[in-house]
Formats: sequence, C-alpha cells, structure tokens
Amino acid sequence: MRIVRTISEMQALSRRWRGAGDPIGFVPTMGYLHEGHLSLVRIARRRASAVVVSIFVNPTQFGPNEDFDSYPRDFERDEALCRREGVRAVFYPDAEEMYPPDYSTWVTEEQLSGPLCGRSRPGHFRGVCTVVTKLFLAVCPDVAVFGQKDAQQALVIQRMVRDLNFPLQVVIGPIVREADGLAMSSRNKHLEAAERRAATAVFKGLQAALEAFRSGERRTDSLVQLVRAPIKASGGRIDYVELVSRERLEPMSPEVTAPALLAAAVFYGKTRLIDNVFLG
Ligand code: PAJ
Repeated sequence: MRIVRTISEMQALSRRWRGAGDPIGFVPTMGYLHEGHLSLVRIARRRASAVVVSIFVNPTQFGPNEDFDSYPRDFERDEALCRREGVRAVFYPDAEEMYPPDYSTWVTEEQLSGPLCGRSRPGHFRGVCTVVTKLFLAVCPDVAVFGQKDAQQALVIQRMVRDLNFPLQVVIGPIVREADGLAMSSRNKHLEAAERRAATAVFKGLQAALEAFRSGERRTDSLVQLVRAPIKASGGRIDYVELVSRERLEPMSPEVTAPALLAAAVFYGKTRLIDNVFLG
C-alpha cells in the first residue's frame, strides 16, 4: 500500500493504474476511520480493482468556531485499517499541498447547499465542493463512494459531478450504526459517557417517525415532533429536525407527498451529530 503525500505523485500513480487497465475507486475521508468508512471502502473494492482512500481534515469546510483543531486524528491506526482492507493507496496530503498561501479558487453548488446544514454552517459546502473537486482531480477516480450518513453532502456532490461533467460515477453507501443505533461518526469520540448514552435518542426519534410513517402517518408536524421529543428529553440541543423532499431538499408541509428525507442535527455538549432516514 502506498502513502502518497503530493498531488503530482497521486496523479502519476492514477495514470499508471488506469493505463494498466485498473479502474480506480475512491473514498474521500477526513480520517479517524470507523466501520462506516470501511463499508464504503468495501463498496469501492467491489467496483474497482485499485482503491484509493484520502485522509485530509479539510480546513475550508470548518467554520471559525467549529472543531477543526480538535477533530480526531490517528494516521497510524487509519493506515493499518486501510492496509487490512486491501486499499492500494492512501492519499494523505498536508494543508499546504492542498491550499498554497495564495489559494483563491472555489467551487460552489448554489441550490442544494442552502437548507439544513447549509443554514447552520455557512460556507461548509463551499469547502466540501472545493476539496472534493481537488481530490477528484488528484485521484482521477472512475467511481467515488460517499455515505448516506451525510445525505445532503452526497446530494450536493452528485449535483456537482453532474453540473461540472466529472467523468466518474458517484455511489452512495448506507449508514452504518453502532449496536444501539447511534450512527457511526469520527466525532462520537468527543462524547462523554453520559452524552454518548443520551445521543441514542437521535436514532430512536428517527426510528419512531419512520415507524409512524409506515403505519400511515403523513403529517409533517407530527413526524417531526416524534423526532424532537426524545431528543429534547435526552438533553440534546436541536440545531434542526426537518422533513424535506429527497431530491431537492425542499420543505414538505403540511403532509409528506413524495419520497422524503427526515434529517436531524443535534448538539450533545459541544459535539454536533447528524443523522437521517428516508421516508417513502
Ligand atoms: P468524513 O466525515 O470522514 O466521512 C467520509 C465519508 O464517510 C463520507 O462520505 C461520509 O458520509 C461517510 N460516512 C461517515 N460516517 C458514516 C456511517 N456511519 N455510515 C456510512 N458512511 C459514513 O464527509 C467527509 O469526511 C468530508 O466532508 C469529505 C467528503 C471527506 C470532504 O472533506
């Protein structure tokens, strides 16, 4: 397994592999890998013979008061996990390699980036689109795999890939959860024991809404309330709980009429968690 620190070396490697007839699968990450990330690596391996994982905590997608400095990092552990999964290369650039001091070019998606996390994290998706564009141009993948855990991010990237004609296929992998339902996330490490217990309320709420939907409940307010109630009772501070259309992320009210995304962002202590389910 290669550890690649520069964009030029990554591009050369990718050109060589593609020339040898190896399709390239790509899983972009910010590291501190868990089973959610590894599930995406396995999806990539099924679709491509050469899998590249990038590990880069991207400063431009964090707001000034967010957790860039404290974001968990453990490259040695990540490296061992990638090796075990049969990854061909880990692309591990530093911030100077990705963003030289006079860096001044940005990629913005201007529709799907607006609601949900876009509202509470202004500039976040601009940072994501910019870094994912740069990673795509470094790795030149045939297939790129993203997680449903970040449903809005997946949608934004799919739109960007279509709009800018990136010659690659985007695949979305399902959410991997802990045994008690909490969606796996690198940020879970920051939860104190009591917060970790309380945080299961997010999935419990989403699950309750999903079950109510399956039993015929269609009123937006009632479904959202089923998510909010257990979260509030658990002491979580709700950033948003929203029911939006799955394709365009537009609010759906007073009733769910088409495939919908029920998404939540909740703080436990200083840690902001997101989760979601599909309805319909
Ligand atoms: P990160 O949070 O490290 O996530 C990397 C990928 O793993 C994303 O596609 C995310 O949706 C997926 N993922 C995270 N937790 C998951 C889970 N429990 N189940 C399934 N997939 C999961 O998302 C980012 O990094 C960054 O924004 C990035 C795209 C790398 C750009 O910097």
